[in-house]
Amino acid sequence: GLPEQVTIYEVGARDGLQNESAIVDVAVKAEFINRLVDAGLRTVETTSFVHPKWVPQLADAAELLELLDLPDDVRAPVLVPNERGLDRALAAGVREIAIFASATETFAAKNLNSTLDDQFTMFTPTIRRALDEGLRVRGYVSMCYGDPWEGDVPLDQVVTVGARLIDLGCHELSLGDTIGVATPGHVTALINAFTAANVPPTHLAVHFHDTYGQALANTLTALHSGITTIDSSAGGLGGCPYAESATGNLATEDLLWQLEGLGIKTGVNLEKLVTTSTWMSHQLGKPSPSRVLQALAN
Ligand code: HMG
Ligand code: MG
Repeated sequence: GLPEQVTIYEVGARDGLQNESAIVDVAVKAEFINRLVDAGLRTVETTSFVHPKWVPQLADAAELLELLDLPDDVRAPVLVPNERGLDRALAAGVREIAIFASATETFAAKNLNSTLDDQFTMFTPTIRRALDEGLRVRGYVSMCYGDPWEGDVPLDQVVTVGARLIDLGCHELSLGDTIGVATPGHVTALINAFTAANVPPTHLAVHFHDTYGQALANTLTALHSGITTIDSSAGGLGGCPYAESATGNLATEDLLWQLEGLGIKTGVNLEKLVTTSTWMSHQLGKPSPSRVLQALAN
C-alpha cells in the first residue's frame, strides 16, 4: 500500500544552490527559503557548514541563518561534515544537522578528502557532540546506486556505511542517488537490504537526482516499499560540485504532482511553489528542468 502522508525534505537551498558557480546574494537565498516555507514546506535544508573554499556558494551560511526567522514548526537542518562545521552550526543556533557519508572510497576522497573508513573518525565525535547538545542528526549516504569512478556499488557496502551511521545515533538515513543512475528494481533491493540489516523503511529517506529521468519512477517504488520521507528540490535545482555527472534533484513540483494524484497529503501548495521556483529561475538566469513547472508556469 501507499502512505497517507509524506514528509517532503526540501533541499533546494542547499543541494540546489551548492552547484551554482555564480554566487547568489544572501538576501535572495533568504527570500527563497522564506517563500518555500510560505508554500507549506516544513523541512527545509538551508545551507552547509562545510569548508568555504570547497563550496564558496555556501560560505555565507552563518549570515544566511542570521537573516532567517522561521516559524517554530519548521525544521531547518544544515549539512555538517566535521567538528569545525558543528562549532559553526551551534554558534548559528542550528537545532538539526545532516552528516554526509560516502558509500565509496573514491567519492570519500573527492568529497571529504578522506578514506571510506576515516570518514567515521570525522563523524563519530561530531555526531556524539551534536546528540549531547540535543540536536537531531540525519545521515546521508552518497553513491548508493553507482559511482562515476567505481561503477557498480555493492548493496552490502552501502548498508555497512548506513548501518554505521545509525549505530552512531543518526535518526534517519537518506539514501543518495548522487548521479541519478538508480532504477526501481535497484531501489527495492536496497531498501530490502536495509530492512534485512534491521534498518526499517521508517528510518530511511530517498534522495534522487534526476539525471537519467528515473527519479519519479524510483520515488513511486520507494513509496510502495514503505518510505515516507522524500528529498526533493524546488524547481529541480541541484548537483554536487564534487561529482561532475550529478545534475538536479527530483523537482519538488514533479513530486507534488505525483503525490497529489495519488491522494497523499503533503501540506504544500503547488501553485505557490511554482511561483517561487519561477522567481528563483529568473534570479539564476536559467530555466528550471522541472516538467511540472514548465507545464504550470505559463
Ligand atoms: P580538509 O581540507 O581535509 O579539512 O577538508 P581539514 O580538516 O584538513 O582542515 C583544513 C582547514 O580547514 C583547517 O583550517 C580547518 O579548520 C578548516 P586551518 O587550521 O588550516 O586554518 N576547516 C573548516 N573551516 C570551516 N568549516 C568547516 C571546516 N572544516 C575544516 N566545516 C572537509 C575536509 C570535510 C572540510 C572538506 O572536504 C569539505 O568541506 N567537504 C564538503 C564538500 C561538500 O560540501 N560537498 C557537497 C555536499 S555532499 C552532497 O551534495 C551529496 C548529498 O546531496 C547526497 C547525494 O546526493 O548523494 C548530501
Ligand atoms: Mg544530492
